[in-house]
Amino acid sequence: MNILSPSRREVMLHIEDKYVDGISDEILIPIEKNWQPSDFLPASNDYNTFIKDVKELQQSTQGLSYDFWAVLIGDTITEEALPTYESWLAGLYDVNFASDSGWARWTKAWTAEENRHGDLLNKYLYLSGRVDMRAMESSIQYLLADGMDIKTDDDPYRTFVYTSFQELATNVSHARVAKLAREGGCESLSKMCAFIAADEARHAKAYTTFVEKIFEVDSDEMMLALADMMKKKIVMPAHNLREIGVKIGDTFCHFSDAAQRIGVYTSEDYIDIMERLLERWDIGNVTELKDSGEKARDYLMALPDRMRRVISRLKIPTLEYEFSWIS
Ligand SMILES: [Fe+2]
Ligand SMILES: [Fe+2]
Repeated sequence: MNILSPSRREVMLHIEDKYVDGISDEILIPIEKNWQPSDFLPASNDYNTFIKDVKELQQSTQGLSYDFWAVLIGDTITEEALPTYESWLAGLYDVNFASDSGWARWTKAWTAEENRHGDLLNKYLYLSGRVDMRAMESSIQYLLADGMDIKTDDDPYRTFVYTSFQELATNVSHARVAKLAREGGCESLSKMCAFIAADEARHAKAYTTFVEKIFEVDSDEMMLALADMMKKKIVMPAHNLREIGVKIGDTFCHFSDAAQRIGVYTSEDYIDIMERLLERWDIGNVTELKDSGEKARDYLMALPDRMRRVISRLKIPTLEYEFSWIS
């Protein structure tokens, strides 16, 4: 069980008391107005159109590349590991998760919105006819059973850095998949991914606002937490991804290479997101810090350029791997 330190607990209660419900109301979409996976998929309860629509869906996927499928499947598996993310967030707040308190309400509603992403992509892949569903499902089960260590040490400050980063990263990657799908002649898939990307952008807005509010009351500690997360590097939630018979994490490396090759998510994107966050929280202008906080701020401000120099020397491997997921 995670026990918050008294000062963290005080800040979390303060944010909850003043902001969380307001942010939830502003950012979440009421369920009756929100999209659902079936808005984008052939209706299986309409006998007259279903088979024809599925055939059309399958034909529309002909122009999509091998790497594209690898990335879309990896993205789906990542979304489907949602139970891990929810249980990890639920453990953070020191509140009764069955209650209607701000943090409990936000996390449940966030999960409920996110749940539609894996649901939609999974059903799409099933209908596409291009995927070995059993192999993919095994990877989902592995990822949930293996869990993840994202190095936030159950600290809400570090966790909100992580979720801010991740929501932006998934916004970028789903939006790029949407663009590639459109270019490949797959309009319906493009629309689905664009809607998912828009959800991720809303969620990023919430998490970055939580961090902004923490900066207002505990800037030294928030700065140290941010610098610590950036020093460790933000690991991807699916870093333990594997297939049957493949070592834990190895499939993730091949998935990540595919994403780099087709430009869905690159090292350059990682640095861009870091810079967007530094700007969003106006890190360069945070003053009245203790020495350690100032050092952390200066480290952060110099980091993007330093990382750019490193990635300019990186080479992306060419395709040589066969995923068990792709038929
Ligand atoms: Fe998502
Ligand atoms: Fe998300």
